[in-house]
Amino acid sequence: MIRKLILGMTISAALLMQGCGSTLNAEQTAGHQTFPKQYSPASIGDLAALPDIEVIDGVTYVEGILVVNKEIPLPRDYNPGLQQEVIDAYSRMFADGAGRGLDFVLVSDFRSYDYQAGLYNNYVARDGREEADKFSAKPGHSEHQTGLAIDVGSSDSATTLSVKFGETPEYQWMKDAAHEYGFIIRYLEGKEDITGYQYEPWHLRYVGDEAEAIYESGLTLEEYLGIE
Ligand code: DAL
Ligand code: ZN
Repeated sequence: MIRKLILGMTISAALLMQGCGSTLNAEQTAGHQTFPKQYSPASIGDLAALPDIEVIDGVTYVEGILVVNKEIPLPRDYNPGLQQEVIDAYSRMFADGAGRGLDFVLVSDFRSYDYQAGLYNNYVARDGREEADKFSAKPGHSEHQTGLAIDVGSSDSATTLSVKFGETPEYQWMKDAAHEYGFIIRYLEGKEDITGYQYEPWHLRYVGDEAEAIYESGLTLEEYLGIE
């Protein structure tokens, strides 16, 4: 929770700073009043280290990458559908996998705000809110609404949307290959406290060229972008 609050503050601070000029001498900004405070070079360094955050029509981009998570929402009417680049990427990945005898299945792709609302409410009714929040995004907080996320499975349907998918030959190849197609495994094992969700080996997020560096880092998207 503290981490989440800090994230909120970091983003607010960054947005605030981006909305301001870069004057760092409080004395200059205070009119007739005089303040002794002079910001140190270390503060300038801290400012430069802040991630580049832009909010365009309610959609948040960090270092140019669209980000949605438990703190950062999408507008209700953001409705782009599954993006063509994602269709191309997973089609190539599935075809290359098939060449290795692997049998990938597309389980889920674009979900609208309203569709996600129905899903989430059903899970809350079935499992209670606390449980549902571990595996289902609230409406406006699902990556599936970006048109850049897919859930994949194998022909072994018993592993669909289960951590057992992580043991399939499809996942064992995909975990070290998905980045070559522009995907990252978004909800990593052992990173639940950062992503806010349980390990989801099946959930892929398309980020394009940045996928390789994110994969090599072993970090979550939030850690990689410095907004965890
Ligand atoms: N299962 C992921 C967190 C979603 O609902 O978007
Ligand atoms: Zn998913």
